[in-house]
Amino acid sequence: MNYQWYPGHMTKARRMMEENIKLIDLVIEVVDARIPMSSRNPDIDALAKNKARMILLNKSDLSDERLNQAWMAYFQSKGFYVLKINAKTGMGVKQVNGLVAEACKEKIERDKRKGIKNRPVRAMVVGIPNVGKSTFINAYAGKACAKTGNKPGVTKGKQWIRLNKNIELLDTPGILWPKFEDKSVGERLAMIGSMNDEVINLEELALSILRFSVSEYPGSIAERYGIEESEDALAVMEAIAGKRGCLKKGGIVDYEKVAGIILDDFRSGRYGKMTLEKVTQDE
Ligand code: G4P
Repeated sequence: MNYQWYPGHMTKARRMMEENIKLIDLVIEVVDARIPMSSRNPDIDALAKNKARMILLNKSDLSDERLNQAWMAYFQSKGFYVLKINAKTGMGVKQVNGLVAEACKEKIERDKRKGIKNRPVRAMVVGIPNVGKSTFINAYAGKACAKTGNKPGVTKGKQWIRLNKNIELLDTPGILWPKFEDKSVGERLAMIGSMNDEVINLEELALSILRFSVSEYPGSIAERYGIEESEDALAVMEAIAGKRGCLKKGGIVDYEKVAGIILDDFRSGRYGKMTLEKVTQDE
């Protein structure tokens, strides 16, 4: 399967990012906790050089708690301030302010030494499409809707949301482009539903989901559908089709229909909380 993101989108996203990043002290990067690596673009490290950095493991309601812990430790070891959140319910969002203050302690002290008092920290939310940036901004800043408006030195049209006396947030998130160099990145993004399904072979994708679930979370598929699991993903898929009545005239398996069910169940977390990527030694 061939996954892509159009070069035009990428250039525009990069230009916007370069422009906005100059204005801020802190980058709040949202990643999908189910694929903490594939939902990042490491180019942000160069773009955000010298900025305070925070990573939010979002959608942690859908990811494996044991691996959440492992990924948090991993990112902390790389110098990030890290929180796991569920932007949809607001779980963990309350802790963000405290962590922002911690992440920007150095800047605040530097300001103090220069005699600058009460200059708020400016932050920006970034991430690839569909990780939950807008949902997070709403949960985080929803109540603080008093926007500060345009200010001198700020590119026209940009809005800052004053969160409290210490923090201002750029109201539009920075969009990072996914990094497709490794073929498995595209596949994982597709598995969690962060790619345009129209250009994807959904039956193949559903088979990948079954292979992954059976090998990494044995019992999850058996429990969901009341079938027997095996390494033969096609046989598993056909058994699910039988259970769910995904059959065409003459008892022929309706692969499209059963693939749709598998994708929807997996993406909604009905197989249980799963994380597709493990922390490995060399990362
Ligand atoms: P983006 O700005 O980064 O592109 O992402 P956005 O906030 O639009 O969120 C993308 C999808 O992810 C939305 O679902 C949103 O509800 C969902 N989402 C965001 N945060 C979480 C989370 O912590 N947990 C879960 N389970 N889902 C989350 P959607 O299908 O596009 O919309 P809807 O079904 O919510 O209406």
